[in-house]
This record gives sequence, C-alpha cells and structure tokens, in this order.
Amino acid sequence: MRLDKFLCEMKAGSRSQVRVLLRQGLVTVNGTVVTQADQKIDENQDRICLQGRLLQYQEFLYFMLHKPGEVVSATCDNRDKTVLELLRMEDRREDLFPVGRLDKDTEGLLLLTNDGELAHRLLSPKRHVDKTYLVTLKREPSEEELLCLERGVDIGEERPTMPARVCRQGKQQILLTIHEGKFHQVKRMAQAVDNQVTALKRVSFGGLSLDESLHPGEYRPLSEEEVRQLQNVFEK
Ligand code: URA
Repeated sequence: MRLDKFLCEMKAGSRSQVRVLLRQGLVTVNGTVVTQADQKIDENQDRICLQGRLLQYQEFLYFMLHKPGEVVSATCDNRDKTVLELLRMEDRREDLFPVGRLDKDTEGLLLLTNDGELAHRLLSPKRHVDKTYLVTLKREPSEEELLCLERGVDIGEERPTMPARVCRQGKQQILLTIHEGKFHQVKRMAQAVDNQVTALKRVSFGGLSLDESLHPGEYRPLSEEEVRQLQNVFEK
C-alpha cells in the first residue's frame, strides 16, 4: 500500500495533512525518514512511526452494529442514510461493508467488516449460518402455523424453506431461527402462513447475540473472542 494511504487509514490526517507530515520528516519506515507520499510499504511487516510513535496496523476490523430502522444496509445510497454513515469518523475505512443485508425497516444485529473472506463464508448458502429474528406478527399465530414455519413453507422458491426453529415469545411475537438468507425471507415465510410481519429485529447471527447495551444506531468493535467464535462457526 502507498505510505500516504496507510497514514490516512491510521487517521494521521487527511491526504494533504499527511503530505505535510511527510515533508516535515516526521514519518519513519523501519527507522528511516521517508518523505515520499507514494512510497510503497508493507503494512503487515514494516514498522511505521509518526513522531516516534509506532502505528499499529489492524488489517481486519469487525463491528457489531444495532441497525436502526430507516437506514439501508449498503455502502452507498443516493436517497437513504447507510449503515456505514453511522460510524464515527475515526472508525471509517473505505473497505468496510455490511455482512449481508437487513431490510430498511428491520432492526438489529448487523456486522460491519472489511474481512471479505469471513463475510463470504458467513453468507454462503452452503454454510447455513444461524440467524435468529424476533418477529412481531399482525395476528396471533396458531400452533399449526408455527409447525408449518418450523417444517418449511413455500415462499415461491424452487424448494420450501429449510427446517427452522420457532419459539413463542408473546401473543403476536415469535423467535424464529433460520439457516438460510433468502431475500425478505422472514416476511415471505409469514405471508406463506397468511400472516404479516409488523416488526422485525435480528437478535443473533452466526452464534453472536445482539449486545443489548447497544441502542439502535450504536455499535462497538467485536472482541477477539467474538471474532474467533464467528470463525469457528464453520468448524462445528
Ligand atoms: N427477512 C426479512 O424478511 N427481512 C430481513 O431484513 C431479514 C430477514
């Protein structure tokens, strides 16, 4: 990566501020002052210091976001605010993206990362990663309807939905765990039993539960243990 890009990613300043820092001789690469903005560096091997302070590069970032409604799970959008715009300036990096999508009106756990490989594996239809939703329905579902949701329903795809887990939460609320991620899947499953979703919140994904101390719109980095947990989801 270019040295100026690295310094920007490390929040040393804007591109032009970084160029000034370089010109002032405040940046060293492996102990040697470097003034060239386009100098190529290996961010994982080289020791880059700013005014003598080592800049520790973190290749992969992982955040748990409590997605609020009215925000889209996209990296950019002409009309709506995106989940990435909820990040504070110091946490923004151009390679971050949401792991999959929640509908605009869906709230809950959404991971943001720049780890393409992990995201790809989490989203792969072959991996059947668990996703649990707190589903509020328009009317109280019967036992029979819940059994249908559990066994699999026709949502107009080639095959019925895979077996799911259902747990009644309240009169019109259920916890639904699915192992696939078809477009609008939960809403379509509710429609398949002549019901309708009136509110949807994802409470867990890949074995991680939504941190209830996060209010809608808030986020925090995943702990190392949580990242390991996500990586281990595939080894079970
Ligand atoms: N299923 C839906 O219908 N919407 C979501 O946002 C997620 C799952």
